[in-house]
Order: sequence, then C-alpha cells, then structure tokens
Amino acid sequence: MTVIAFADSRAFAGRLARAIRAPLRLLREHRFPDGESLVRVDPRAARHAVVVRTLDRPDAKLFEVMLAADALRRAGARQVTLVAPYLPYMRQDKVFEPGEPVSQRVLGAMLAQAFDRVLTIEAHLHRVRTLREAIPCRARSISAAPALARWMRTHAREALVVGPDAESAPWVRQIGRAAGLKWTVGRKERLGDRTVRVHLEGLPAARRAVVIDDIASSGATLAGAAKALLKHGIAEIDAIVVHAIFAPGAQQLIRRAGVRRMLSCDTIAHPTNAIRCAPLIARALEGSS
Ligand code: R5P
Repeated sequence: MTVIAFADSRAFAGRLARAIRAPLRLLREHRFPDGESLVRVDPRAARHAVVVRTLDRPDAKLFEVMLAADALRRAGARQVTLVAPYLPYMRQDKVFEPGEPVSQRVLGAMLAQAFDRVLTIEAHLHRVRTLREAIPCRARSISAAPALARWMRTHAREALVVGPDAESAPWVRQIGRAAGLKWTVGRKERLGDRTVRVHLEGLPAARRAVVIDDIASSGATLAGAAKALLKHGIAEIDAIVVHAIFAPGAQQLIRRAGVRRMLSCDTIAHPTNAIRCAPLIARALEGSS
C-alpha cells in the first residue's frame, strides 16, 4: 500500500502512513491559467494506492481526486482507495423541494466509478443506513465515537454528554456508554440555514455539559444547544464536533451562545483539532472490511 496525498491533506495522510507503516508520496498539482487542474502521480504507482484528501470546500477538490484515480490506474495501480476523512454532499439525500437533485447519489455514482473503496469518518447518513447504499462500491463510514469516548474519559469526567438532535442519538449514546457518562439528546427545530432552536427536556442534574455533533457549519445547532443548556442552569458548556467546517462567523456565534471551548476531530484541518482519527482509518485499511 502507498499513501498518496494532496498537499492540503498532507498532515492527516502522514499520520495515516505512519499508522499503517506505508510510504507517503505527494501528488503534484498544477493549475492552468484558465482555472483547469492537472495532477501528476509518481509513474511507479503502487499496486494499491490510497489517495488521501479531505473534501470540505468540495467542488474543485472532487474533480482533482477523480483525476488522481485515473492517473494512478494509468500508472499501473490495481486497487485505488479513497480516504476522504470528511465526505461532502451527504446531507442532500432526497429531493427536499421539487426540482432539486439527490446530490448524495450523484457523488456516490461518481466515486464508485473511480475508486474500488471509499473510507470516511462519520458520514452524515440519515435516510440511508450504510455508505454503500450511497456509494455503490466498498464504501464505509467509520464511527468517530471510540476516539471521542477516549477523549471524554480523559478530559471530561462527570460531564453530561448532549446530542442536539435525534440524528446525534446513536453516537451520543455510544460515547456516553463507553465513557461511563450520562447522556441526553435534544429536539432540533431548523428555522432557516442559520437559525436553529434546540429543545432539551428532562435533563439530568449536571454542572458541566459537552455538546457533541457530527458537523458544525453555520454553528447554529451548537449555539441552539448551548442556549437550551443555559436555560436549564448548566453554564459550563464545551462543544466537540467531528467535522470542523465552521463557516465564517460560526465560531463567534457559538461562543456568544455560551460555549467556553470548541474542539474537533482532525478530519478537516482547523485550529480546534484535538482528536485524531487516522488510527480509526488505519484499522479499517488493515482489516478486511
Ligand atoms: C445536521 O443534522 C447535522 O447533524 C448538524 O447538526 C448540522 O449540519 C450542523 O449545521 P449548523 O452548524 O449549520 O447548524
């Protein structure tokens, strides 16, 4: 196996290469004056190439990973795996308004055509159960819960684990149980792209809470959860997200709502990164699934 990294995902790729004891090679990227991209791989490609690129701000990045898969196969790779620690377009998994596409399926067909295997961390799967339903190849979404639970056990003993909405229930439950902490899940009302109300009922007594969500984008969900916790008299509030998208203004919104500390997994490089996920991907690569 050889790990092939895009420059913007080099740090994660390096951690992965070290974890699986594989060589790391950087792709060469070129941008033509008209905005088109070209990638060049080492022509002595490995039999199994593992392309690493996280796909936040996805549109240009996606096309380049498709070019990389083609280049690697032409250079002789028999198996090409994509490791995308953050996988975009998973939330548009149905036609919400007439006239819209199902972006999740469009992306899935594209990736399945180029890659033998796709691995990601905590894909936002709502109406489909497994990533293979969205990406018809050996695709797998790996749970970040073990890494989050380890962090909670070490740094947040006695905190209440809070999931902002029903979708967060599976990992909040898993983290709560694995870390031996009380947990609860709220009910979210989305009133607009940047407006969210979170309702928390029957909260167990706690001085400190850690809100855990898969993504922070506008920050409205974490801010809504923090406001609801404050209403219940819990003032020591931290937040952890798996994917630190943080649109402009998101962190300020979350802080103003009362969150003291924001942390994230390293699926998207960001100053809040505190929890490493490369070991989770390494285990999946080394295993057979
Ligand atoms: C949605 O259901 C997700 O789990 C997140 O709660 C959501 O994507 C966060 O987005 P925002 O930060 O814009 O509220």
